[in-house]
This record gives sequence, C-alpha cells and structure tokens, in this order.
Amino acid sequence: MKWSWLWKRERPASVRFSDLAWDVHSHLVPGVDDGAPDLEAALEMVRGMHALGYKGMVLTPHVMSDLYPNSPETLRPAFDSLQAAVDQAQLPVKLKLAAEYLLEPECLELLQSGELLAFTCVDQAGNEKEVVLMEFGFHHAPHEDLVKESLFAAQTRGLTPLLAHCERYPYLHKEDGLLELWRERGGWMSVNAASLAGAYGPETRDMAKKCMDRGWVSFLCSDAHGMRHVRALEALATSKTVVRWMASGQSLHRGLGA
Ligand SMILES: [Fe+2]
Repeated sequence: MKWSWLWKRERPASVRFSDLAWDVHSHLVPGVDDGAPDLEAALEMVRGMHALGYKGMVLTPHVMSDLYPNSPETLRPAFDSLQAAVDQAQLPVKLKLAAEYLLEPECLELLQSGELLAFTCVDQAGNEKEVVLMEFGFHHAPHEDLVKESLFAAQTRGLTPLLAHCERYPYLHKEDGLLELWRERGGWMSVNAASLAGAYGPETRDMAKKCMDRGWVSFLCSDAHGMRHVRALEALATSKTVVRWMASGQSLHRGLGA
C-alpha cells in the first residue's frame, strides 16, 4: 500500500491566511466608531493580523448619519496616527483608509457626489475597480428603490459597491431576493469570519456558507472591532468551507496585491 498517498488524503486541509493577503473590512482607526478605542488596541489587532499572515488591511470605519457622521476629513488624522504607530513599531502590514457606509438616503447623496472613501481592487478579468464597502441596517430591509438608485449612482461614478456581511441580515435569511438584485446589478458581496465561526448563531453561519457555496462571495473579512474577531479568523484555520471557497477562485483578496 502507498502510505504517502493515504497520508495526503487524511491530512486536513488548512487555510493559509497569507494567501488572502489583504483584509478589506475592519474597525481599527482609533476612537472614531465602535471599533478600536485607542492606538494600543488598534496596534494589538494589527499585530494579531500580521501573526496570522496578512500583508495588508483596508480600515473601514462606520459612516452613519446619526451615530457616526464620519467623513474623510474626520477620519484621516486618526488613520495617520495609527499609520505612524505601525511604522514606529516596524510592523510590515500595509494600511489603507476606506469606510463602511450604511445604505441610507444620505449615503445615496454621497454616492451621487462621488465623495467617498474607496479602495482599489483588480477583478478576475484584470480590470481595476474602485470599491465602496456598504452595509444594510440589521433590523429593517432597505427600500428596494434605494438599493437600485444606490447601485446606479455608484456605477455612474465608476464605483463597485461591496456589501458587508451579506449573511448577517435576518430578514434576508428566508427571502434573499435583495441579494439576487444586488448581484445581478453588479454589486459584490463579503462575509464575516465570525459568522462562519458561529458567533451569531447557526442560521447566520449557514447563510454565510450558502452564499459562499453559491459563488456569491468575493471577500472573507475580519470586520475586526476587537481581538475577538481576529481570534474568529484563527478559529477558521481548518474550515472546509473556507478551504473550498479559496480553491474555487471566487476570492478577490489578491486583487489588492500579494
Ligand atoms: Fe463593519
């Protein structure tokens, strides 16, 4: 019997985070939302992501008109302070500033003006895209007209909307027509590591798996607000769903650079 063959078959596949290279959703900009409260907490998370193998992080503080009325002007100084601390600590992790926009009428205005924080990613066809991370409210579905108008406004400006944690909206678990619409009209989707690790219950975990297995998901994100989310990534090191998804070619993580 060829034992080497048997060993290969039984050896569990594992996730190589260095293959993901970039995380594109996190709340590490200190003191601007419900993420890292200060520089020390933000640095600890950068260290944790580096230890997992990540090469870069897109930092995406919340932009919500009522709770977090952030703008490029309010976010840039806090981002720069973290960048300086990461440089001083000589951590080889690249940082980029973007944001996570709540889909609301004020967001539509920003999309129409084009004054948003986006990040650049090369898609599967080799085209460079300017990507804007957006989220729906957790309790109520956004009006379909607002979704359609926002997708249209984004594309008119040459922006590709990326939906944050598509698995975390309970109102889409049984009726996911809005996700179909998002996808049909050129929107991209992402899931959170913590959802796959079971942090929000079995229904959310199963929805994340379903979206990945359907071929809808371009990014697996930390959505790191604290070290618990870095540890959630670590918990996925042997996830068959993630291994299968990474092998499927859907991932666009390396579109930000290896
Ligand atoms: Fe987030």
